Amino acid sequence: MENKTVIGFIGAGNMAYALIKGLISDGFNAKNINVSDSNQELLENRKSELGVSTYSDNVSLLKNSEIIVFAVKPQVLSKVCHELNNQANSSQLFVSIVAGIQSKDITRWLGGSFSLVRTMPNTPALFQSGVTGLYANELVTPDQKKSVNVLLSSVGECFWVNEENLLDAITAISGSGPAYFFLLMQSMKQAALALGLDEETADSLSIQTSLGASIMATHSGKDSKTLRAEVTSPNGTTQAAIETFQDQNFEGIVAAATRAAYDRARELSKELGNID
Ligand SMILES: NC(=O)c1ccc[n+]([C@@H]2O[C@H](COP(=O)([O-])OP(=O)(O)OC[C@H]3O[C@@H](n4cnc5c(N)ncnc54)[C@H](OP(=O)(O)O)[C@@H]3O)[C@@H](O)[C@H]2O)c1
Repeated sequence: MENKTVIGFIGAGNMAYALIKGLISDGFNAKNINVSDSNQELLENRKSELGVSTYSDNVSLLKNSEIIVFAVKPQVLSKVCHELNNQANSSQLFVSIVAGIQSKDITRWLGGSFSLVRTMPNTPALFQSGVTGLYANELVTPDQKKSVNVLLSSVGECFWVNEENLLDAITAISGSGPAYFFLLMQSMKQAALALGLDEETADSLSIQTSLGASIMATHSGKDSKTLRAEVTSPNGTTQAAIETFQDQNFEGIVAAATRAAYDRARELSKELGNID
């Protein structure tokens, strides 16, 4: 994306803040970033901290931006789009980071055919360590895709899918995924306490072990199955634990849990898209 492309964020909350900070730390000019939000105090804070331009109404932001990023909660997206109805032009690109709302519903609410990229980031994006799934509708040009890739890469890794419904699978794996790891950390902490370790040590061991395992999986060049086999000596402690996990159907539980998240993502998409 050219540094002079003007990006407008509708919604200046947590995710917009992470993306704007990521862009600026990647060298993007804050003067070319516009932000609007219903919370005036938040807008003032963003302006003074980040040096971005602020707008108190979304239509003015739209008129002054080439790429418009929807960064509001799902429940308010329909209202925001209706406000912009018939105000956009066909050269503008819309990007939605809003969970669950399909591209056809967003363009319908905007009142026409527009270039739109729908994305599914995850919470570690707030610490520039996210993973984002992206889907572009048929009007998005290769250059526009590159721009969106630059935008979302500022908070982590990007993976494009060719079918929009695969975003529901991404939601079930990486969107909800941080909570699965938090649950495992929480369970390991409880187990550590039960084995006699103190609270601070129990916390640090579970967090640091999770971080260390992620770093090994990222940098060793080996897949998780190989890494697990390598740390599992025959008749050793790890084998005793892994066999217990598998006796309790650990893989089956993970499959059922991610399937439930996937089914719920599809239901939510329908419910949220039914608003007119
Ligand atoms: N946080 C995450 O980790 C994460 C991960 C993946 C996807 N997402 C998606 O990202 C989106 C934003 O999440 P977030 O955590 O950044 O939410 P957030 O912190 O609540 O930010 C949303 C902002 O939009 C403002 N707003 C409400 N109505 C508005 C309107 N009509 N026009 C302009 N601004 C308006 C809100 O103001 P008020 O507070 O005054 O209502 C708030 O400041 C959500 O749709 C979520 O699904 C978030």
